[in-house]
Amino acid sequence: MNAGDPPRILLVIGGGIAAYKSCELIRLIRKGGAQVTCIITRGGQQFVTPMTLAALSENPVYTALWDLKNEAEMGHIQLSREADLVVVCPATADLLAKMAVGIADDLATTVLLATDKPVMAVPAMNVRMWEHAATRRNVAALRQSGVHVVEPDAGPMACGEFGAGRLPEPEAVWAQISQRLSLPGAAVDALAGQPDFDRDPAHRALHGKHVLVTAGPTHEPIDPVRYIANRSSGKQGFAIAEAAAAAGARVSLIAGPVQLDTPHGVDRINVESAREMAEAVTAALPADVGIMVAAVADWRTKDIAREKMKKRDTGLPALELTENPDILADMAASSQRPGLVIGFAAETQDVIGNAIAKRARKNADWIVANDVSGPRGKSVMGGDMNHVHIVSDTGVDSLDAMPKDAVARALIARIGAALAQNNIDGGDTRNG
Ligand code: C5P
Repeated sequence: MNAGDPPRILLVIGGGIAAYKSCELIRLIRKGGAQVTCIITRGGQQFVTPMTLAALSENPVYTALWDLKNEAEMGHIQLSREADLVVVCPATADLLAKMAVGIADDLATTVLLATDKPVMAVPAMNVRMWEHAATRRNVAALRQSGVHVVEPDAGPMACGEFGAGRLPEPEAVWAQISQRLSLPGAAVDALAGQPDFDRDPAHRALHGKHVLVTAGPTHEPIDPVRYIANRSSGKQGFAIAEAAAAAGARVSLIAGPVQLDTPHGVDRINVESAREMAEAVTAALPADVGIMVAAVADWRTKDIAREKMKKRDTGLPALELTENPDILADMAASSQRPGLVIGFAAETQDVIGNAIAKRARKNADWIVANDVSGPRGKSVMGGDMNHVHIVSDTGVDSLDAMPKDAVARALIARIGAALAQNNIDGGDTRNG
């Protein structure tokens, strides 16, 4: 692609129910400033019409090899070479198998065999098909030959079963596409599918780094049965810990009281109160990166009643409050300050303005801010989606609304890039 030209994507749409998500993907690609031309297989046309794709992409849609008789206009070789990136989405088990062995029996597979451009495949299929030894072999062969095969999501499937094989949400697919095209400002995901990354941990963005994450609420006991707390499910912090571990980091997750499984490869320390969390954080230092996601209660009662306070005894109790330690600010001020200190800010008004002020007040490098006002707040706190803005000294990087695990991967990808760029390796080095 010439400098200044919009990147061009050739989107090959296979035959599966997930084909409907390609419509949203086309919209995101266009919104992200890239051009898209579609090829749809015969199976794909059972789910989406070429007319819909043509309207969304504002380009001709190609369906059959025999459409391309007019070689002067657009032959399959030209079609396969004009793009900067070829994306197969959804990639069915059948398409992956044909790609792996080089079968070219329709327009899509012929173009995939003829292309000399990078190819990304986004699989979607039933969990048994995804786990079948034949598909495993085909995926391994494709990765070996340099095709970027994205890991599918796990969850309920259109066929009623449950497991891995769901097409990732279009936002997550776009994040991967934009990263491969190195588009500035787009949500990036450096984690999934790259052959080197899969084979060699030393290629992982956070290989050998110690990442310290706090997550969940804290509970500040008033008496043996009552406590003060903030609303927090812990999902975003746990997703960040998981993404950091997947990127090769040694992860210490200091978790308040939440009902969540420990992510794979993560060292979890459970705590109850802010003071316990502060102690655990100090004990876990030094770290290269500190990501304080926990919704720490700002106050606790000065005294904790030893027995349950009885309504009749006390009438309305006068609770004397005292301030909790600010774990983020204390970490940023400590002699063991991690090279990159990241705080979170859930705000109900002036999200960016408050985040900028918070970054300065707490001496954090980045603040990840989200809006939790009104109904949106209800869907963020405890929900699976998040819409965040990363405030740093270089400005504000606003991500699209996306699932919390995609936010986590996008954040970890940015951290990996920052560490690589600044050669941050813990201690007192500020992220410039
Ligand atoms: O001041 P506020 O609670 O809005 O700041 C949010 C950020 O500070 C989050 O990163 C949170 O984890 C961290 N924090 C902390 N200790 C506190 C209060 C907040 O680490 N006592």
